[in-house]
Amino acid sequence: MAKRTLVTAALPYANGPLHLGHLAGAYLPADLYVRYKRLKGEDVLFICGSDEHGVPITLAADKEGITPADVVEKFHNINKKAFAELGISFDYFGRTSSEAHHKTSQDFFKTLHEKNVFVEKSQDQLYDPKADMFLPDRYVRGTCPSCGYEEAYGDQCEKCGTSLSPTDLKNPTSVITGEKPEFRQTNHWFLPLNDFQQWLEEWIDSRKNWKGNVLGQCKSWLNEGLNERAVTRDLNWGVPVPLPGTEGKVLYVWFDAPIGYISATKEWAEQQGNPDRWKTYWQDEETELIHFIGKDNIVFHCIMFPAMLKAHGDFVLPENVPANEFLNLEGRKLSTSRGWAVWLHEYLEDFEPDLLRYVLAINLPETRDSDFSWSDFQSRVNSELADILGNFIFRTQSFLNRYFDGTIPELVNPTERDTEVLNAIAEYRDEIGKLYDGFSLKEAVLQSMNLARLGNKYFTEMEPWHLRKSDMERCGTVLHVCAQLTAALATVFSPILPSKMAVLRKELNLPDTDWNNISSTLLEAGHKIQKGTILFNKIEDETIEAQVRRLKERAGEQPASDIPELKETATFEDFMKIDLRSAEVLTAEPVPKSDKLLKLEVDIGLEKRTVLAGVAQQYKPEELIGKKVCVVANLKPRKMMGVKSQGMVLMAEDTDENLYPITTEAPVGSIIK
Ligand code: 2FM
Ligand code: ZN
Repeated sequence: MAKRTLVTAALPYANGPLHLGHLAGAYLPADLYVRYKRLKGEDVLFICGSDEHGVPITLAADKEGITPADVVEKFHNINKKAFAELGISFDYFGRTSSEAHHKTSQDFFKTLHEKNVFVEKSQDQLYDPKADMFLPDRYVRGTCPSCGYEEAYGDQCEKCGTSLSPTDLKNPTSVITGEKPEFRQTNHWFLPLNDFQQWLEEWIDSRKNWKGNVLGQCKSWLNEGLNERAVTRDLNWGVPVPLPGTEGKVLYVWFDAPIGYISATKEWAEQQGNPDRWKTYWQDEETELIHFIGKDNIVFHCIMFPAMLKAHGDFVLPENVPANEFLNLEGRKLSTSRGWAVWLHEYLEDFEPDLLRYVLAINLPETRDSDFSWSDFQSRVNSELADILGNFIFRTQSFLNRYFDGTIPELVNPTERDTEVLNAIAEYRDEIGKLYDGFSLKEAVLQSMNLARLGNKYFTEMEPWHLRKSDMERCGTVLHVCAQLTAALATVFSPILPSKMAVLRKELNLPDTDWNNISSTLLEAGHKIQKGTILFNKIEDETIEAQVRRLKERAGEQPASDIPELKETATFEDFMKIDLRSAEVLTAEPVPKSDKLLKLEVDIGLEKRTVLAGVAQQYKPEELIGKKVCVVANLKPRKMMGVKSQGMVLMAEDTDENLYPITTEAPVGSIIK
């Protein structure tokens, strides 16, 4: 086992409030893991902070008509508070606008520059003469060269998923002034990831215990071949490039943000009064560095940052990057711009933090996207937290207080069943521990509830309310067993329900908690406990209905123009030019480096075709195989992401950008007219 663990959670952009998706993706899993490690008595440090640079921040500032500094100040504080209230127990929550971070990331850049790691190149870039600035990718819109969508961004076409650079767009315009940008030459520094290809391949290959989804994405990037990546930008918000004559240039946000983990650790050490202590976490080989992130951050944490760390040479490399998939909301993709989200600060106005922690933890998007719904929230709180865990604990506490004067009775002549239940405590401890160690956090939470389930079942089976009248000694033994289970649960559930379990431990007069001590002898006979309180109240239907109403109203508040206007009239002849055929999807597979595209092989009756479809975020390949769909069969073939697409699968798109394939029952090859 490593001597110590440094756990980081992705630095959230301080450009808006956090929602449930953020919590389930990175912060809650990281916190569960860290709290478990702390209970084991291990040396673990938990670092996070606000990512305050980059185009997401300047775009938010432009939208609200305030400065980037105002934006980050506002959301850094809102998010820090929400994390604290939800019990996300960072040892330090920094921010990348801090002086220490600017210095650390500039020093990092200088080291790489001095080691001649970078390639310096001059390139043509779009410039808005009216705004007097170079335009970052997201500040340019234009027509997608692949699909003709007129509102494509300079980095990606949202319609067809093609990755673009602003110079690929036809008819580009500046988002700031609406002007047509011009080309100007500008100098930038590039990290030649291609130089690290072989090393990365070997290193990733050696990561045997990484999650399949993470390894899959890494291998797909590596198979495509790595390229040079610019690590500087022409922007007036960010960490200035620390070289002479580079005014107006800053470090690329994805260069400085991960270095934020190092700067925040330095700030933490400073705060501890031991400024050099950060080194033990970043420079001692006996530290295991673990990055908790969402799947959209995989390439940065598994390819780019490791290459930067390797090039620098003074730091440990990540031991594991347990990235999660996404959380959906009420069966639909979360969308902040469309108001389809539950914000953490809003949730906290209405409910207790631990309830959300449990419901998200038992449904983490660990291996596939998962869904949060208010009805599931209600049912898990009512039938698991209240009816199983809370009920068992309260029954035990009440019985002990009422009939044993709050004193733990002796264990006398335990039966086979008593012993079996007592032994289960250590068995569950070991099994749940293994699950935490292996990052199977969702299963760890499920098994924790199973221990409570066992307690509840045992209580009901033993019927102490009858024993109390017939055999007080036997009744005492049963309550002894229940008390041990209750005490064990108080620690087992500590990572998941930290506030509630702190209350319980106080009531049990069990202030200390330690994972290794979870056993069947936590409470000695004669130990006194206090009166218990009801830990979990049930949630009424009306309360849940109000949440669903609020969500729907907010999403419905979107302008009616969400339904796109009709296109200009097409003649019958125009329509007749299009040859639509019914076709069967034979195979489907992801397209490397594209989040959106799936490569399909379809049978149109006359022949088999390769067709790209921008549905990867909604459909798994296997969900499409075997479907009979409508295909535009005479569309001029075009190349996307290096693959030639010979047609188009018809899809309906709703106002939330959900796509629905148009299916047909007609035999393959039928003309659709
Ligand atoms: O995706 C995001 O929200 C980024 N701000 C994550 C940065 S993680 C790290 F590198 F700092
Ligand atoms: Zn496109």
